[in-house]
Amino acid sequence: MIDIEVKEGSAEIEVAEGVFFNPKMKCLRDISVAFLNAIGSKGNSLIDCTSATGIRGIRYFKEAGISGLTLLDTNEKAAKNTLKNLKKNRIKAVSLNIDLEKFAAGSEQKFNIIDLDPFGSPAPYVRDILKISEDGTIVMLTATDTAVLCGAHSKACVKQYASAPMHNHLCKEAGIRILISYFMRKASEFNFGTELLISISDMHYMRLFLRLRKGAQKAYDSMMQTGFGAYCNSCFSFSCMPGIAPAISSVCHACGSKTKLFGPIFLGKLNDKALAGKMLKEMDESGCGYKTISAVCKELDTPFFYHLPTLTRKLKTSSVPFHKVSEILEEKGFICTRTAFNESGIKTDAPIAELLSAISKAKELR
Ligand SMILES: C[S@@+](CC[C@H](N)C(=O)[O-])C[C@H]1O[C@@H](n2cnc3c(N)ncnc32)[C@H](O)[C@@H]1O
Repeated sequence: MIDIEVKEGSAEIEVAEGVFFNPKMKCLRDISVAFLNAIGSKGNSLIDCTSATGIRGIRYFKEAGISGLTLLDTNEKAAKNTLKNLKKNRIKAVSLNIDLEKFAAGSEQKFNIIDLDPFGSPAPYVRDILKISEDGTIVMLTATDTAVLCGAHSKACVKQYASAPMHNHLCKEAGIRILISYFMRKASEFNFGTELLISISDMHYMRLFLRLRKGAQKAYDSMMQTGFGAYCNSCFSFSCMPGIAPAISSVCHACGSKTKLFGPIFLGKLNDKALAGKMLKEMDESGCGYKTISAVCKELDTPFFYHLPTLTRKLKTSSVPFHKVSEILEEKGFICTRTAFNESGIKTDAPIAELLSAISKAKELR
């Protein structure tokens, strides 16, 4: 069987039969390279815990100046394929056919940067990557169990992430906030605080870019950025309750109906916009990754959003364009942006009553 030859970025690789390679994830690999260049990772050590063909490590080495590169894969064919590709790209690196859990249990080495891109959930591997982390370690991790995080299998979410998900238009944002809070809780057990740098939810994946900070106070501060959310199925507003044991009300603050509670979730900012801006400078404007990071730069930082079609249905009216509603709210001094989590969503600091009135006014002006 002939291996498939692939050129991606500066890497030239062969994909052996039985080894995972998804060309559609080029976009996310481009974003990861831009991230490493934006934070200035030249000369740092990096471990790709789930290398498959080795494409990530090879690109990080060639395009972001990584020096000490280690690649792991539990699949023998993948580890062999990685070795072959390292040779093809003339890169000296450590490539091991080993399970991450076993490697982390026996490793004395700590890494500056860790990439984790497993099949499905990263949850079973988080403790392993924390074992090979130190103060300042950058973690890039992918989750593809989005159906679980987005509440299609809510019992699985409770089991895997110890969190109650949402299963409506808020599900993707709630899902990524569940993933972040899960990571923070595990990091805290290892006495690490977590700085969230960039978070992306796109296609079938979620990806987090984080920095670990050693120290009890830092771990405590991260934990205090988590909390719970409440969603009202009657008036469609939402609220957030920060803290580990906050006073949780299941009564909607806007209409008095019973709300649905979800969480624990992360309640802080999902992106460091200055860093996202630096990433854009590292990227090709015509690439799909550019679009993803531009959207991140434009989005309001507050948690959650309203869904225009749900609100127009409530008002028993036809659809209304985003720009008309946002113009009316902005004239009143409110901030409105789109959200990367839902193309019909509106993120705003306006209360629900103001938003409903802006929708009605937008309809009158037509
Ligand atoms: C989704 S693929 C990685 C794709 C790769 N990052 C890329 O961009 O092409 C997941 C890889 O993780 C490997 N893997 C799964 N469980 C593992 C474990 N416990 N330790 C190390 N590797 C593992 C699989 O064999 C597979 O090659």
